[in-house]
Amino acid sequence: SVAALDDPVPARHRTPDRFAAVERRPGPGHFVGTPDTDPAVPENRAWARAVLTRVPTSRLGEDTIAAAWLRTPAQVDEAVEGARRAAAPWAALTPDERAAVLHRAGDELDAHRAELLEVMAAEAGKTLDQGDPEVSEAADFAHYYAELARDLVGVDGARFSPARVTLVTPPWNFPVAIPAGSTLAALATGSAVLLKPAGPAQRCGAVLAEVLWRAGVPRDVLRLVQVDEHELGRELVAHPDVDRVVLTGAYETAALFRSFRPDLPLLAETSGKNAIVVTPSADLDLAVRDVVASAFGHAGQKCSAASLVVLVGSVATSRRFRDQLLDAVSSLVVGYPDDPRTQLGPVIEPAAGKLLAGLTELAPGETWALRPRPLDASGRLWTPGVRTGVRRGAPSHLVEYFGPVLSVMTAADLDEALELVDDVEYGLTSGLHSLDPDEIAAWLAGVRAGNLYVNRGTTGAIVRRQPFGGWKRSAVGPGAKAGGPGYLDALGTWSPARATQ
Ligand code: SER
Repeated sequence: SVAALDDPVPARHRTPDRFAAVERRPGPGHFVGTPDTDPAVPENRAWARAVLTRVPTSRLGEDTIAAAWLRTPAQVDEAVEGARRAAAPWAALTPDERAAVLHRAGDELDAHRAELLEVMAAEAGKTLDQGDPEVSEAADFAHYYAELARDLVGVDGARFSPARVTLVTPPWNFPVAIPAGSTLAALATGSAVLLKPAGPAQRCGAVLAEVLWRAGVPRDVLRLVQVDEHELGRELVAHPDVDRVVLTGAYETAALFRSFRPDLPLLAETSGKNAIVVTPSADLDLAVRDVVASAFGHAGQKCSAASLVVLVGSVATSRRFRDQLLDAVSSLVVGYPDDPRTQLGPVIEPAAGKLLAGLTELAPGETWALRPRPLDASGRLWTPGVRTGVRRGAPSHLVEYFGPVLSVMTAADLDEALELVDDVEYGLTSGLHSLDPDEIAAWLAGVRAGNLYVNRGTTGAIVRRQPFGGWKRSAVGPGAKAGGPGYLDALGTWSPARATQ
């Protein structure tokens, strides 16, 4: 199965000796990020074409999956106990020894960019422009947490008590960066990890595990566990020897996990229904660009996506912003990710949650400025939708649809816009487009969300520079931000007492 990672694709150009020339950490507080693939370089275009050619027939990871599928409670026990036994020697390594493995993991993730992109496109419908930064982010998590753990343990070793077994349950929409981030963070603290990929992203999980094993993470310290969630999810989550669960997913899933085990140490980043507010002082061209990218990138299937835009004052009453927005949205090319022209890819779980209602139903007062239409019989390809006339409290104001559909609301002034944003029970990301310093200050003071973005889209947090995490119902547990300085601390100091034995 490891051999599956070695199928040749043409060479990809890397910025010459970026890593050799620049010390990974030029000094305290500095972090050098992993570069994305530059499509202006001709050999990268050949490389990208080769990756795309492989997507429709990809079988990567299948052998690993066959070996990792758990079918009985006894097999769950065996996996948990195996991780528990492996945790002691892993925790006994020095922070420097673990950091060396993590840095190798970062390099291997970058080196296996092609295979990761292939399987992300095949399973999660990711176009290359969406998947490529995700691989960079995964590598960044590895390098960042390696260094962070070194500092943490060095500075305050006595206080730091890692869980012995961490269960990582990521979502399918970022099927590489999120599981990589959670897994590498737990590994950095000295914990063993059970990685349970999300339903549709089994092969992404398998290829990710292969890459990390290849980097030197021992196979019993990182265990791929694949279960039917309905059959064995409870056994796994509520297992008394699982010390902590790191979940990224729906708020309801966090609540379900808690119902399995009320005292469960849970670090969860959960749902979002995120807004961008556009005021009359905004650069409307930039606002259109950022709203379109935030609402329809990855077909709206990001917890960070903007699925509400609130138009303030004259932006609401004039047609200029709306007309430009509709032109931009209707220009998006819809298709599957193996077609390089595709800008808006497939919906992965068309029947899940409220998505179908979001794509088809209108509440009183609403109209379709652009009506979503299915493009083929699969139910997965939809043209993008824009609803206008959305009233306060309507489902399209409050419900996370997780798909390519945007609600347009209007507000008389910034105060009213802030009220509309705060009506939503989640608070993950929030955006403002305004060039007025007083408006920006008022918005920053009034908005309750984990990640605030001014004159920028709401997606695409950056390790170390823009750590990512939620507020309100977008976080359960200590609310630490992934890719930020408090993340390992939250994993390490928040253990049940017995994890320190
Ligand atoms: N970190 C991602 C983003 O910022 C979401 O998980 O878009």
